[in-house]
Amino acid sequence: MKICIRNICCIGAGYVGGPTMAVIADYCPNIKVAVVDVNKNRIDLWNSKDLDDLPIYEPGLKKIIERCRGKNLFFSTSINEYIESADMVFISVNTPTKKTGIGAGKASDLKWVEASARQVAKFSKGNTIVVEKSTLPVKTAEVIKEILESTDPIQKVKEQKSFHVLSNPEFLAEGSAINDLQKPDRILIGGESKDAIMALHEIYRNWVPEEKILHTNIWSSELAKLTANAFLAQRISSINSIGALCEATGADVREVARAIGSDKRIGSRFLDSGPGFGGSCFKKDILNLVYLSNHFGLPEVANFWESVVSLNNWNQNRLSTLIVKTLFGTVSSKKICILGFSFKANTNDTRDSAALNICKNLLEEGAYLIIHDPKVGSKQIELDLNLKPVIESEDVEYESDPSQYEGKWSYSREVYKACNRADAIVVLTEWEMYSDLNWEIVAKSMRSPAWVFDSRSIVNSKKVLKAKLNFWRVGDGAIQKKR
Ligand code: NAD
Ligand code: UGA
Repeated sequence: MKICIRNICCIGAGYVGGPTMAVIADYCPNIKVAVVDVNKNRIDLWNSKDLDDLPIYEPGLKKIIERCRGKNLFFSTSINEYIESADMVFISVNTPTKKTGIGAGKASDLKWVEASARQVAKFSKGNTIVVEKSTLPVKTAEVIKEILESTDPIQKVKEQKSFHVLSNPEFLAEGSAINDLQKPDRILIGGESKDAIMALHEIYRNWVPEEKILHTNIWSSELAKLTANAFLAQRISSINSIGALCEATGADVREVARAIGSDKRIGSRFLDSGPGFGGSCFKKDILNLVYLSNHFGLPEVANFWESVVSLNNWNQNRLSTLIVKTLFGTVSSKKICILGFSFKANTNDTRDSAALNICKNLLEEGAYLIIHDPKVGSKQIELDLNLKPVIESEDVEYESDPSQYEGKWSYSREVYKACNRADAIVVLTEWEMYSDLNWEIVAKSMRSPAWVFDSRSIVNSKKVLKAKLNFWRVGDGAIQKKR
């Protein structure tokens, strides 16, 4: 029987829930979409008048919010009310790695998913399709189903409650989320009920070509999401391992990447050597895969995937060690300018950013860091480093003696000011603005001998060298050999 969706409720107004629902609302004007969250501050920001205050920065997002908010897109903390009126509920809550207890450090913590399922079980009315949007371990749908089915039987009959559970993992990448949602490579829908699958299928059909909407069984869908992230992360660890070898041998990782990427079987994307992958998901999802593999008695499979994470950790530490060694074995009392703190360009997300780990290492070595990022503010960095900046003002001129500030940091809104009297500049995020700096001006204000470390290969090496700055670039053995 055809199920027609009129009201959607999405639990979780985060990096996935917000943009995903905005795009659904934009393409489906006849569906009322409500995004609900326990975090009042986040909801207030989603509702803020000034669209520059939205809690998430994504190119293209502001325009959609402007078009749909208040018409068929709503952000609210009235979770129960919106669950009650929904025909379809998306669960898009956080699923971080467990910190304590069984599976700590590897398994996903499903307490927020479970809480959401309980709320749906309690407040839904009539037939409700529950969609797993969060990334979840295989077999979570069974848990959700069990919770939904365990509603008080009298209430169930009285309110004619029934449920279908679908898995519909999200493949968007931050920074390109809107484009990924508008033109997805594929939409994956896993489930048992053909009618429920078709109800979700029909929503996507409003803008996604039929052939891109794949139907699978629910377990394949859950596992495909973990596998996609594991494969992507594995490519980054692979190229970063080769980058280190390039630096040691005089080869150039960009040339190696171009050569192997021309092979259609390998493909050219996701071969940028860098400081190591960050973000809230790659590490968490691989560790989850490791946990599952061990759980199902497959330690060799677990070890294989765990090595992807180990290589990434090693790569991040390698970078901070290299900076210390290059700066004559100590960064204590030296001023280092950090360009970029988000885990990649075009996002304000700093979760598990390589920059965060590298900054922590350098602070431990006694460096004084001046941190700049075009989208991440001082408050967020303070939270991440768990350390107050020494100078609260964001517009301060940095003339002071760095020896007073060992192991401390300050924030700068302005790149050129940040570089002032620095011993080194370290590019950690590939923001476009860093690729186009005037190195002559920068060089004049730095303390000699001054260094530029480009961990993202975005800086124009010729211009840096022409400005008489020492230069290091990730994976570039050729440039290292020239010195
Ligand atoms: P997030 O932390 O940005 O957002 C999750 C939101 O859920 C938070 O605002 C939190 O307050 C809210 N929440 C938690 N429990 C709740 C409850 N019981 N009721 C109401 N609200 C509740 O997380 P995210 O980055 O959007 O990720 C969500 C899921 O999507 C994760 O499983 C993640 O692995 C997956 N995912 C993330 C991305 C990404 O790029 N961030 C991409 C694909 C998939
Ligand atoms: C990733 C996946 O790309 C999405 O498909 C997935 O939906 C998402 O995780 C998720 O499940 O959360 P995201 O983490 O937003 O998306 O960003 P990516 O573009 O994948 O980058 C991840 C990290 O790898 C970043 O730190 C990035 O700088 C790094 N990276 C990426 C490289 O070092 N080299 C590359 O070639 C590509």
